[in-house]
Amino acid sequence: MNEAILLNPIIREMHPSDLQHVIRIEREIFLFPWSLENFADSIRAGYLCRVIEEKNNLLGYSVMMLGPDEAHILTIGIGAQWQKKGLGEKMLQYLIRLADEEHAQSIFLDVRESNHGAVKLYKQLGFEQVAKRKGYYPSMCGREDALIMRLML
Ligand SMILES: CC(C)(COP(=O)(O)OP(=O)(O)OC[C@H]1O[C@@H](n2cnc3c(N)ncnc32)[C@H](O)[C@@H]1OP(=O)(O)O)[C@@H](O)C(=O)NCCC(=O)NCCS
Repeated sequence: MNEAILLNPIIREMHPSDLQHVIRIEREIFLFPWSLENFADSIRAGYLCRVIEEKNNLLGYSVMMLGPDEAHILTIGIGAQWQKKGLGEKMLQYLIRLADEEHAQSIFLDVRESNHGAVKLYKQLGFEQVAKRKGYYPSMCGREDALIMRLML
């Protein structure tokens, strides 16, 4: 695959048959990845699980949980070779629209404090930091804080 195929990526529901592809990307881009079972559980629980693909090539994915008033983005990932081409932003814009259509009043997410690229993207889309969870994430050198970010809809 090369960049030329990124003409019109589509976002669709994640199916159990996607999970081998999803987990391959997950292990490539996260130091502490979700397991395949975590994704399977999310589908079974009825969370809003989506993939972004082009011509049957799976490029990334997201999982969002919808509560009565709030949505929570539990994970979002774009395959390493497809990052920084606008796909993460496209997926987030889609999730924001979806949460809005479902009448959520806000969207929350947690992000590692050191994940400057993701934090920058979230801020660009209007998320703001509302709290910090001390030592929330495991890291290579102990624990790392999570920033809790919120977008009001
Ligand atoms: C974070 C992630 C989802 C962003 O998706 P992406 O497709 O790479 O991001 P986009 O191309 O849509 O970026 C849009 C904007 O975000 C910012 N951005 C994204 N990645 C960045 C990076 N690594 N460094 C700096 N800025 C970055 C930029 O401002 C960019 O806008 P620009 O291209 O005009 O400068 C993706 O890089 C990823 O999967 N990373 C690994 C997993 C991860 O960290 N997930 C988030 C956990 S909370």
